[in-house]
Amino acid sequence: MSSTDTIAPSAYVEHLRGRVEAALQEIDFPREPPGLYAPVRHVLEGKGKRLRPVLLLLTAEAFGATEEEALPAALALELFHNFTLVHDDIMDHADTRRGRPTVHTRWDQDTAILTGDVLMGKAYALLSHLHAPLLPEAHRRFYRTVARLCEGQTLDTAFAGQKDVSVAAYLDMIDRKTGALLESCFELGGLIGGAPPATLDDLCTLGRELGRAFQIQDDLLDLMAEDTRWGKQIGGDLIEGKKTYLLLRALEMAKGPDHAWFARIAERQGLPPAQVDEARERMQHLGVVENARAAVMRHTDAAMNEVAALPSGRARDTLRWLVRDMQTRLH
Ligand code: IPE
Ligand code: IPE
Ligand code: MG
Ligand code: MG
Ligand code: MG
Repeated sequence: MSSTDTIAPSAYVEHLRGRVEAALQEIDFPREPPGLYAPVRHVLEGKGKRLRPVLLLLTAEAFGATEEEALPAALALELFHNFTLVHDDIMDHADTRRGRPTVHTRWDQDTAILTGDVLMGKAYALLSHLHAPLLPEAHRRFYRTVARLCEGQTLDTAFAGQKDVSVAAYLDMIDRKTGALLESCFELGGLIGGAPPATLDDLCTLGRELGRAFQIQDDLLDLMAEDTRWGKQIGGDLIEGKKTYLLLRALEMAKGPDHAWFARIAERQGLPPAQVDEARERMQHLGVVENARAAVMRHTDAAMNEVAALPSGRARDTLRWLVRDMQTRLH
């Protein structure tokens, strides 16, 4: 019996996070040229939650794989995630991430593009360390994730310039920009553990539902976060004119002058920073914040149903705890 066999779920998640963090810092990026690798290190030294690699490690364990077998794919997904954040911050004109300046702010846009590119390349290189017979399928599935995430980001950007976006269109967009990568954590974890194809489909359902809960929660926190660990600009989505779950629900639920107030944000494709507090008060008053919290809960419950179908054991118990914990996350 190993020392982690009887550990509490929260402590086991911390243990896995520690393993991922150490392995990330040990990746042998060169020093030269510093114009590329200093920003790469800046990104990887930021305090990310490392959720995706932990989800992959737990899923692989649930299906019987060892940590050693699953770690390269776990790191690949975290590097890929970090690449998407660096490019996302350019697209979203975001100055801060994880409480620190974004790469295009601290350096410049060319540097941020190349930092993202090299992180993406390293993600593929790490994936190649998987057990050889798994590689064609892992690469095929990973590429599908990459493509869907880019599709989602394209839609997210396009929606900012569109007046009428439905909640259904928003859900399809977040299934791609956020759900695809969470699906990948579960499906690659399952693949590494030898789960059959039908189970991999169920694992994708789990990832999609968790992705919806996660992105709606991210939209909520973008306006409501109080925790200093949030590390991104409060109200950034409204300032940028993003069609978030909150703005779309506000447009649905508001009447009269309230509706006109929110419609102006959609039409002008943004909000002056000085009006963010007013937007928050109007949304709270309308019940939009409660509505979004209920949506996070619904999608978390749907994800929990899928977790219940995983093979029983420490990994499933820990996933249960982690998925619930994500629902109430503050950063
Ligand atoms: C941010 O992801 C991007 C979204 C999909 C909302 P995280 O909230 O997992 O970011 P880090 O890695 O912990 O910083
Ligand atoms: C996250 O969307 C999607 C990706 C990074 C692919 P957001 O733009 O809401 O993410 P944050 O809030 O900047 O982390
Ligand atoms: Mg974005
Ligand atoms: Mg963003
Ligand atoms: Mg966001």
